[in-house]
Amino acid sequence: MIELRTQGAGQHSLISPSLLAANFANLQLEMEWFNRSEADWLHLDVMDGVFVPNISFGFPVLEHVARLTQKPLDVHLMIVQPEKFVSQVRDLGAAIMNVHQEACVHLHRTIQQIHEAGMRAAVTLNPSTPVSTLEEIICDVDVVMLMTVNPGFGAQKFIEHSLDKVRRLRELITRTGSQALIEVDGGVNRTTAPRLAAAGVDVYVAGSALYGKPDPVAEVHALKQLCLIR
Ligand code: DX5
Ligand code: ZN
Repeated sequence: MIELRTQGAGQHSLISPSLLAANFANLQLEMEWFNRSEADWLHLDVMDGVFVPNISFGFPVLEHVARLTQKPLDVHLMIVQPEKFVSQVRDLGAAIMNVHQEACVHLHRTIQQIHEAGMRAAVTLNPSTPVSTLEEIICDVDVVMLMTVNPGFGAQKFIEHSLDKVRRLRELITRTGSQALIEVDGGVNRTTAPRLAAAGVDVYVAGSALYGKPDPVAEVHALKQLCLIR
């Protein structure tokens, strides 16, 4: 299993570009700048049209993308019954398998299965799901991801209420002694990122703030600098 806390103790500022915003007609070129950049993880959004009202890409695409990078893959499954795909995600070489709390009836078991497969377990909460739903498993997870938009689409407006939620999650992690990193997904840009950093975020997923920009490598650098808590 990979080490997620690469910056030692304390708060992190890891950037995980979301491939959903990429030009799919030219993935090779998109992966080229990604590999050259200071991006830490690659965020891969899988949607099934059931758990969320959209469909993105599946394993045939992911297998090709996985061969184009050595950086950790952060696979965000916006699907029902994600536990059915633990071994397929592992076979991609993914470092982090990310499941929604709302999609897992037996979340504790699913986290165990992800760990047994040699991956880090991330659990995501939709905007309407309270942080308190993680109270019993917070010490078993490696990453908690908060959706800061409703899942399913890129380039949506950041939900302001998320800042309070990040602070509540930071409190829970501190109180319980959990080692979990806090990740956020949706509406992350140069304006929202420093505010999220101040609230206690470690990992920043960003799609439309990076892809399609004239210099995405410089955008990653700028975002990372803005998120550093000094
Ligand atoms: C939304 C996805 C996000 C999305 C973020 O359902 O989970 O990862 O790509 O896109 P931006 O950064 O454009 O809000
Ligand atoms: Zn995502």
